[in-house]
Amino acid sequence: MRTSIYPGSFDPITNGHLDIITRAAKTFDEVIVLVLVNPDKKGMFSIEERVELIKRVVKGFKNVKVKSYSGLLVNFMKKENSQIIIKGLRAMSDFEYEFQMALMNNKLDPNVETFFMMTRAEYSYLSSSSVKQVAIFGGCIKGLVPEEIIKDIVKKSKTFK
Ligand code: PNS
Repeated sequence: MRTSIYPGSFDPITNGHLDIITRAAKTFDEVIVLVLVNPDKKGMFSIEERVELIKRVVKGFKNVKVKSYSGLLVNFMKKENSQIIIKGLRAMSDFEYEFQMALMNNKLDPNVETFFMMTRAEYSYLSSSSVKQVAIFGGCIKGLVPEEIIKDIVKKSKTFK
């Protein structure tokens, strides 16, 4: 069975992430959405909250699991016996950062391959950071994130003003 890992901060999950998960779930036997700490980013939701939000969003998928891990991605992958990382690419600006991470992960574990999926054009401008900004300043986030988590983001963003 081919298990792929879709890692990220998911703070919070967006419709762009959900699109990648949906397409990856059709391609691989199993997809593990993995919430990891990105030391460069300040979070809005705790890791546990992010996992809970994603679980709610993907509950209809039979072959998608949601987990979190504190540490190196390649160590988690060894534990799960997976060699496949899925990453979404939105624009050229993502490329350099993703290229660096893919090479670093491959250096840490040469068995690991990163598969890149191009975002759908309609989500190419979307990021968790921009969703947070819009929410914090009272803008409408409908259509940017899954319906079932809008309330949670609006509520949490009020504590960030
Ligand atoms: O959604 P993001 O913030 O672009 O995801 C980045 C993430 C969390 C996948 C990356 O920071 C990560 O892999 N963190 C775990 C630590 C690790 O394995 N680093 C080695 C690759 S440089």
